[in-house]
Amino acid sequence: MAALVLFGGGGDLAMRMLLPSLYFLEQDGLLPDGLKIVGAARSDDGRDGYVALVRKAVSSRAAQDDLWDEAVFARFEKRLDYLALDATKPDGAESLKARVGSDDLTYFLAVSPSLYAPIVQALHAAGMTGDSTRIVLEKPVGRDLVSFLEIDEAVREAFDESQVFRIDHYLGKETVQNLIALRFGNVIFEPLWNNLSIDHVQITVAETVGIGDRWPYYDEYGALRDMLQNHMLQLLCLVAMEPPSDLDPDSVRNEKVKVLRSLRRITLEEAERVTVRGQYGPGQSEGQSVKSYEQERGQPSETETFVAVRADIDNWRWAGVPFFLRTGKRLPEKRTEIVIQFKGVPHSIFDQGDRGELVDNRLVIELQPEEDISLTVMNKRPGLDAQMQLQSIRMSLSWGVDGKGSKPPRRRIAYERLLLDALNGDSTLFVRRDEAEQAWKWVDEVAEAWGDADLKPQPYDPGTWGPDEADLLLSRTGRRWHVAGE
Ligand code: BG6
Repeated sequence: MAALVLFGGGGDLAMRMLLPSLYFLEQDGLLPDGLKIVGAARSDDGRDGYVALVRKAVSSRAAQDDLWDEAVFARFEKRLDYLALDATKPDGAESLKARVGSDDLTYFLAVSPSLYAPIVQALHAAGMTGDSTRIVLEKPVGRDLVSFLEIDEAVREAFDESQVFRIDHYLGKETVQNLIALRFGNVIFEPLWNNLSIDHVQITVAETVGIGDRWPYYDEYGALRDMLQNHMLQLLCLVAMEPPSDLDPDSVRNEKVKVLRSLRRITLEEAERVTVRGQYGPGQSEGQSVKSYEQERGQPSETETFVAVRADIDNWRWAGVPFFLRTGKRLPEKRTEIVIQFKGVPHSIFDQGDRGELVDNRLVIELQPEEDISLTVMNKRPGLDAQMQLQSIRMSLSWGVDGKGSKPPRRRIAYERLLLDALNGDSTLFVRRDEAEQAWKWVDEVAEAWGDADLKPQPYDPGTWGPDEADLLLSRTGRRWHVAGE
C-alpha cells in the first residue's frame, strides 16, 4: 500500500503546514491515486478524533484563501488514518507495519530531532526501510555537528542517500525557484554576478511573531540553529553558487556544497566584529503589549532570538563581497528578502547641477510578504526641464507586461511543492548530507566563538530591527540595511 506516514502527525508542523498542504494537493488532483496518509503520534485520539482535528486545522487554513470545500475534504478524509504508537520502540514499528505493510512508504519525521535516530532504528529493525521507502527529515537535523552525525549514522545504516529527503521549506518557496530561473535562464545577469559589479548582498528573514509556547524547542536552538544553519545558508548558496550543468539533484547540490566549503570561518577574534546576537525584551509589537522572551520562557535564558552575521565567501567570484545575513523574531514586519546591491557607475556624467541623486542598481528578491523580483534602475524624469533630471524606478521582473508572469491565484505553502517532490522521488530541492554537515561545521564555530568570547545576546525592543550592533555591522563598512520599498 502506498502511504505517507507522518510521525508527529498531531503536532504543530503537521497541523499548520503538512496537512493543509496535502489538502491543497488533493484539491488540485496532484496526490497519487490510492495514497494513504497516516498520522502517527503518541496520544490515543482514535481515527475519528484525529480526522476532527485535521478538519479543524485544514478548514481554517483553506478558508484564508476561500478554498474550503467539503467535497474535497470528503475525498481527502478517505485517505486519512491514525495510529497511536511510540515509534521509537520495536512494537511501535511493528504495529505500523501491520497497518501499512513495508513497501512504497514515505516517512515524514515531524518530531523533535532527538527522536530521529531511535525512530529510524526501530523502522530498520522492523524491516521497513527497503528500497521502495523514503524518509523526509525536517530541519534542523541535529543541534550541532556531533548530533547531526549521530542521526546521520542511524539514517545511513537504514537508507541509501537517494531515499533521504532533508527538507528545508525555504527551497519550496516560489520565488526561491524563480531565483534559479532568473540566474540561469538569462544571459544578462551572469556577467555582473560577481565581485566586479556587486558591492554586497543582504539576506533578511524578519518575523513579527515571538516564540510563545515553542520555547521548549527554541530555547535549545536559538536563531542561529533554527534559521541561519538552514534557511539562510540555503538562500546564500543559491545566490552564490556557480551555474550547475543541469537541474539534476546532484549537479545543483554539488555547487551548493562548494559555496558552504568556501565560507570563511568565524574565529573567536572575529566573532565580536562580524556577528550580533539579540534577545527581545518586553514591549509593543503590532499594537499589542507583548512579553519578553524570558517571560515566555519563564526563566532567564541566554538563547538568541536575533542573529546578524557578516559572511565572506573565499573564492574568485565573491572575494571582497560581504554577505550580510539577519534574522529575528518580534521585528517590525514579516519580511524575507535577498538584496543584491550593485556597485555605483565608475564615473558619473550627471554631476553638474541638481539632477537628482544617482541610486546604485539593486536587485531585490522578495519572498515575503509579496513574491516579486524587482530591479532598481535610473532613468530620465519625463519633461522639458532645462537640465536632464534623473529618477530611480523599480521594475518588477516577475510580473511581466505580456501577462505571462501574472500572479498565481494564491500563494502556495512551500511544503506543497516539497511533499510532491518527495513523493515523486525528486531530491533537487532537498539538502544533501554533505551540505548539512558543512553548514553545521560553520555554525558550530560561530556558537563556539560566542561561548569562548562570552558573547551574550543584546536586548532589543519588540518592533525594532534588533540590537543597534546590527546596524553597526553594516555602517562600519559604509553600508546600511535595505529599507522595504526602496
Ligand atoms: C521555521 C522555523 O523553519 O521557519 C520558525 O523553525 C520560523 O522559527 C519559520 O518561524 C519561518 O518560516 P516562514 O516560511 O514563515 O518564513
